[in-house]
Amino acid sequence: MPIDSGQTDGAGPRVRADIGQRDRANPAVPGGGPAALSTRDLKLGFGTNTVLTDVTIDFQPGKITALLGPTGSGKSTLLRTLNRMNDKVSGYRRQGDVTLDGQSIWSPAIQPMALRRKVGMLFQRPNPFPMSVMDNVVVGVRAYQRVPRGKLREIAEQRLRAVGLWDAVSGRLGDSPFRLSGGQQQLLCLARALAVNPGVLLLDEPTSSLDPVTAESIEQLIRDLAPGLTVVIVTHNLSQARRVAQHSVFLNRGRLVEQGDTNQIFDNPAEAETAQYVGGRFG
Ligand SMILES: Nc1ncnc2c1ncn2[C@@H]1O[C@H](COP(=O)(O)OP(=O)(O)OP(=O)(O)O)[C@@H](O)[C@H]1O
Ligand SMILES: [Mg+2]
Repeated sequence: MPIDSGQTDGAGPRVRADIGQRDRANPAVPGGGPAALSTRDLKLGFGTNTVLTDVTIDFQPGKITALLGPTGSGKSTLLRTLNRMNDKVSGYRRQGDVTLDGQSIWSPAIQPMALRRKVGMLFQRPNPFPMSVMDNVVVGVRAYQRVPRGKLREIAEQRLRAVGLWDAVSGRLGDSPFRLSGGQQQLLCLARALAVNPGVLLLDEPTSSLDPVTAESIEQLIRDLAPGLTVVIVTHNLSQARRVAQHSVFLNRGRLVEQGDTNQIFDNPAEAETAQYVGGRFG
């Protein structure tokens, strides 16, 4: 089982505005604020199958970027590349680079676990670890540094409050997370990802397996996370992309077709393919 803090496969009230900013209540892990994440001439594939070529994106710090495209267009492959989750996948190959605050994420100076502390991730389906609710939240903090139990509880409470889960789980901190509802599990995974103060949060269809009410509250949380975090969200829900993302990137048929301001991508796309997609005419 991975101990990586932020690697979680996401519902509730508003997130505290200071999440992602320097964190006085959690001195064990330095808060860095939003990180600068860029890709340069990325080419990704599996075996002989090239999934994406020529992917150059500057994800704007403290902003939300949506990755859009039909099924199989390489959105998850790209997202997982951003925190090196594909590195050990059989057949995976890559050319080009990804930089975090100007440094290549494949630099020998960067350990994958340290990278994933800075670049947290939430998946389509919640993936709590088989440990208590509280331990799920603080697992990454503990991996990073020895912290007294009382302090860990304080951090857990703070993060659970931030995602709006505290009232539901305050009496169940020692329980298994698998007794929580799907939406609550996703919120728990979000609290876990936030507990280590990442600079980037990657979200792969984080609300697509949730009921509309829970999905809406997660969406609100995501909006409130920026500007304290740089957020990249994969979504098939075009209305959601419009609501949450300042920037959008459209991928199709193995390449990055178009990127820009979300309003421009939706209202005035430069490419016919983009117009077709955002107009709901394919995908
Ligand atoms: N581990 C893997 N081994 C081989 N091929 C893979 C692997 N993971 C993904 N692929 C292939 O890469 C391509 C892109 O897949 P990816 O999951 O990135 O698409 P996606 O845009 O996220 O699609 P969806 O919207 O359905 O989630 C697909 O052709 C897929 O079959
Ligand atoms: Mg996908």
